[in-house]
Amino acid sequence: MASMAAGRRLSRFTLVLMAVAAALAVSLGGWLRFRERTAELVRRDPDQLLADPRMVRFATRIAQPIYQQKCAGCHGRGFQGDPTRGVPDLAMNDWLYGNNAVDVEHTILYGIRSGHPKARNLADMPALVRTGQLTPADAWGAVEYLQSLAGAPYDDAASLRGRSIYYGKGNCYDCHANDARGITAYGTPALTGPVYLYGGDRQTLYHSILNGRHGECPAWVNVLSPAQIRALALYLVTAPRASVAR
Ligand code: HEC
Ligand code: HEC
Repeated sequence: MASMAAGRRLSRFTLVLMAVAAALAVSLGGWLRFRERTAELVRRDPDQLLADPRMVRFATRIAQPIYQQKCAGCHGRGFQGDPTRGVPDLAMNDWLYGNNAVDVEHTILYGIRSGHPKARNLADMPALVRTGQLTPADAWGAVEYLQSLAGAPYDDAASLRGRSIYYGKGNCYDCHANDARGITAYGTPALTGPVYLYGGDRQTLYHSILNGRHGECPAWVNVLSPAQIRALALYLVTAPRASVAR
């Protein structure tokens, strides 16, 4: 009798042991697969990865929670940005620094005006009125010119003055391009609308010219792993546009 009970105990013990071993094997398998995919994410060319739906899904799974935790505070839970801080709408903007995965990854790694030596930092919006380079009337003229480019109602005479400021003493064309569509290498925004960093109403446009602008995105190179940063880059060139089609 005693030995039968011991045998039952033993077999129950064996069963539990086998179940634990099986669970361990399954999670070890999952962990190894995760490790392998993570290595693949870092090793392969970003454009190749984008063409591989399996890897885009994997990147999305990694990136989604990180985006919500680290980026959404500024960029918005639904990528909508925040004009009060000049955070672009990632679904709507035409990408200040280009929307291919390599460029986006560079931005995430080193940031924009972040203080990191490799940060994107080629141009700043100067405080043209505050520094006396332009008079308030010059700046209001430039505002009317920008209104005309955006297809909004505008004052003819002021806009004409603004146009001469744009190509003259304001030097706007130098940074924002001859056609005012912005220059990717400098990260300057288009001034033609309908999408703006800070806003396209007269008062906000004037404020940009009056005080200048200095939008900053932090560098993530020492905060997140290379795989996490690669995953975020793939996520940002795919998810925001897809969310617009919803
Ligand atoms: C403190 C606020 C803040 C946080 C946090 C932040 N960003 Fe940014 N980000 C900005 C601002 C502001 C800009 C626009 C900078 C400028 O004026 O050029 C920007 C721009 C960008 C751009 C460039 C978009 C373009 O049009 O080229 C990318 C990519 C980006 N952020 C990714 C991220 C990612 C990924 C995270 C999280 C890991 C993140 N950001 C967290 C503020 C932030
Ligand atoms: C030295 C380069 C430079 C010059 C010159 C310059 N800008 Fe800018 N401008 C920028 C940059 C860079 C930004 C983006 C700032 C940021 O990302 O925070 C910007 C932003 C702006 C914005 C904000 C746009 C938005 O989407 O909200 C306006 C408006 C603007 N500039 C108008 C002008 C006008 C008008 C002139 C000429 C009178 C001018 N800029 C001259 C570099 C320049």
